[in-house]
Amino acid sequence: MSRPDIGTLRGAATLDDESYLDFVEGLRGFNLGTMVPKLVQSGNAIGAAMGKAEPPPSVHALFHRLGDVPVAQMTRRMMRSTQLMMWSGSFRSYGRFGDELAGWLDEAEQATPGLLTIDPDFAYPDYARQQDIHLMPGSYQDDALAGFVYHYGSKIFFTGANDDDHIHRVMADWCPVDGKPGRVLDIGCGIGQSTTALKQRFPDAEVYGIDIAAPMLRYAHARAHHMGLAVHFAQASAAHTDFADNSIDAILSMILFHELPRETAEGVIREAARILRPGGTITIVDFPHIPQDELSGRHCMRLFDSWYNGEPFAPGFVYSDFTALLREHFDDVDDDYRPAATSTGALQIRVCRKSA
Ligand SMILES: C[S@@+](CC[C@H](N)C(=O)[O-])C[C@H]1O[C@@H](n2cnc3c(N)ncnc32)[C@H](O)[C@@H]1O
Repeated sequence: MSRPDIGTLRGAATLDDESYLDFVEGLRGFNLGTMVPKLVQSGNAIGAAMGKAEPPPSVHALFHRLGDVPVAQMTRRMMRSTQLMMWSGSFRSYGRFGDELAGWLDEAEQATPGLLTIDPDFAYPDYARQQDIHLMPGSYQDDALAGFVYHYGSKIFFTGANDDDHIHRVMADWCPVDGKPGRVLDIGCGIGQSTTALKQRFPDAEVYGIDIAAPMLRYAHARAHHMGLAVHFAQASAAHTDFADNSIDAILSMILFHELPRETAEGVIREAARILRPGGTITIVDFPHIPQDELSGRHCMRLFDSWYNGEPFAPGFVYSDFTALLREHFDDVDDDYRPAATSTGALQIRVCRKSA
């Protein structure tokens, strides 16, 4: 009954649903391509003028001042509305054939049960339930169809640029790994787009994806199964895994850390340093650092995202000296700024190597 698939993404239920979601994607593209640059320009100009005051005001003053600028008002309205529309549109559409989709997940689990471990006693950390992360109803864990919905939502979020997992494949192909790894791990793997890309790069390795959210993992597993890839998915916090000391050759983390409270982020780095083998690497792709006193448009965008788009931990992450945290656990840290091209702006890539 559904529309054609888009790569590995399950098609929407009806033409009307697909056309609505396509419209939302176009609107988001317009906002990112036309409105956001204007907001950033205004923020830079007003910030430069405000920065001349003694003492200079905080970025929050700039953030509130931008609230009076029509282009900023429009941009933030569109940012929030398109985000809400993409979630509600995909939930509505997949909900129309939810039983069939649930059956698709069950079939994959019956076919390759050994590749998926869901912990029936898993206790979600409090931060995961603090609010709906980036406005997704029920966050990653509370709806059985969350994996499908996240996949369609992130298609719209990346305005079509990741329809074939392009961004995840680029990162999985890029992350530095010596020789032929035996065991590779994707932390905060979500629906497993970088996990399957890692398996495609290292077909002989054991590839693992871990995440706290069961519906995301169930979808990741079914998706990998249908791609013909034997990837292990397990429910666990990246801060507390079952992996033995020195047992992993390489770890990849795609856009996980900005969603973690500081103490969890510290736990994840400590755990990575424990389970990596000497010489092993962790590659972290996430938002770049922003100095807390920077009066700029990009800083306001980060605050807009946090305030209007349900990203409670992102400001703390971009303000923190994350590189210093990495240096507490790894002697060899490369935090060269390498912009990863996405429709939502540049991400930063950091690579740490455990001392041999
Ligand atoms: C923004 S999503 C990124 C998913 C995927 N890496 C991607 O690139 O699409 C963040 C993911 O981190 C997961 N997560 C949050 N806290 C975690 C933790 N402590 N350990 C493992 N995964 C976690 C969430 O459930 C979610 O699937």
